[in-house]
Amino acid sequence: MSKHFVIESGGKLRGEIKIPGDKSISHRAIMLASIAQGNSQINGLLRSGDVLCTLAAMRAIGVHIEEGTDGALLVHGTQSYRTPLEPIYVGNSGTAMRLLVGLFAGLNISAKFYGDESLSTRPMKRVTDPLCSMGFIVKSSEGTAPLIIESQNQIEDLNDFNYSMPISSAQVKSCILLASLFSQTRTTISEPFKSRNHTELMFKDFGADIRVKGNEVTLVGGKKLLAHDVQVPSDISSASFFMVAASIIPDSDITMKRVGINSTRDGIIHLLKKMGADISIENKRHCGSEIVADIRVRSAPLNGIMIENQYISLAIDEFPILFVAAACAKGKTKLRNASELRTKESDRIAIMAQALQKMNIKTTEYEDGIDIIGGTLKPTDQILDSHNDHRIAMSLSVAAMAMKSGSLKLSGVETVASSFPNFHTNMHNAGMKITLQ
Ligand code: S3P
Repeated sequence: MSKHFVIESGGKLRGEIKIPGDKSISHRAIMLASIAQGNSQINGLLRSGDVLCTLAAMRAIGVHIEEGTDGALLVHGTQSYRTPLEPIYVGNSGTAMRLLVGLFAGLNISAKFYGDESLSTRPMKRVTDPLCSMGFIVKSSEGTAPLIIESQNQIEDLNDFNYSMPISSAQVKSCILLASLFSQTRTTISEPFKSRNHTELMFKDFGADIRVKGNEVTLVGGKKLLAHDVQVPSDISSASFFMVAASIIPDSDITMKRVGINSTRDGIIHLLKKMGADISIENKRHCGSEIVADIRVRSAPLNGIMIENQYISLAIDEFPILFVAAACAKGKTKLRNASELRTKESDRIAIMAQALQKMNIKTTEYEDGIDIIGGTLKPTDQILDSHNDHRIAMSLSVAAMAMKSGSLKLSGVETVASSFPNFHTNMHNAGMKITLQ
């Protein structure tokens, strides 16, 4: 049976909150450590549903991965792989599916990937098209999962490849880069706005020949990767639920330590600050090639804003929670050119617009965005559903805490485990009146 959160309005958030490891970096660390020469230790790995799928996929091709000391993961990199015995299940994870299909194609491994209900509807042509143009044989059923790679030693036949992505996407960029890693070719990818660059940074750490110029990345394939230990920062996307909650719930004051603030991920901080949030970035430091900081957030009155295009890819996963901030802000928040949000774990524009409306907030939906007029969040008699989307579940929990009175019941919340397994305990310990049923 589906699990529910029941959240009572009120309370306040106080204290130091431990945010789990970054999901994007965790996927990439497992993949690169698996194919490098030597043993790599990964510290601070996110052990969530999505990441565990990537771990299982690498084990399925014969990579030996074991638990190290102090919660670290020890990955024994290898260059000899076996064909997986069974189709590979990647659950709810678009990152696992899109990156692994590129990686396995490049490694010349035949495999079939499939996912859960939500992932099975998400667009996959964006990765199968460029992979096929490169010369790989990758099939999908009408542009969605399952995806099938038929390996035919194509890697020797690859030519240099230039690809201009129609939409900025770190998943597509990373898929192509992983597929090109072992060929003796030059691959250049450009995108309209910069998307997250964890793959580029980590490729460099593991010894790949990769160069970045503006929004263009060039990889010269064929260089051997060497083992590298990875320290995974705390995930800014998971931290964003606490940032917004502390901003909109009166008398809150929280600190989150060692949160990744990579400039290709920090859109949420810029946008919330523009709305008037009281956020201080303290103790900024390096964490390998990434940058981390301690983030302190205190409640502050927010104002509606016009969201500029440049922030869309820098805050791509934070829009559901940003819409909650907008619902509590004074005036109108306006977002356009963001139809990508309709292709995430759920249609995040439609689902959030409808949920906020049920909670007494005026929203107008557009094909590529939304207008939200801030007001008073009120309880609804209806049970709201998370639509197989972890970020919808967590965003609506925060909205419920900010309601004027009453409580909210939210269904389908098991999906939260795909990125933030301890969300409900962490929120509860910080001051949210949340129970799991
Ligand atoms: C991710 C990239 C983003 C993001 C996803 C994680 C990644 O997707 O939405 O949650 O780890 O590369 P797109 O790059 O397709 O926008």
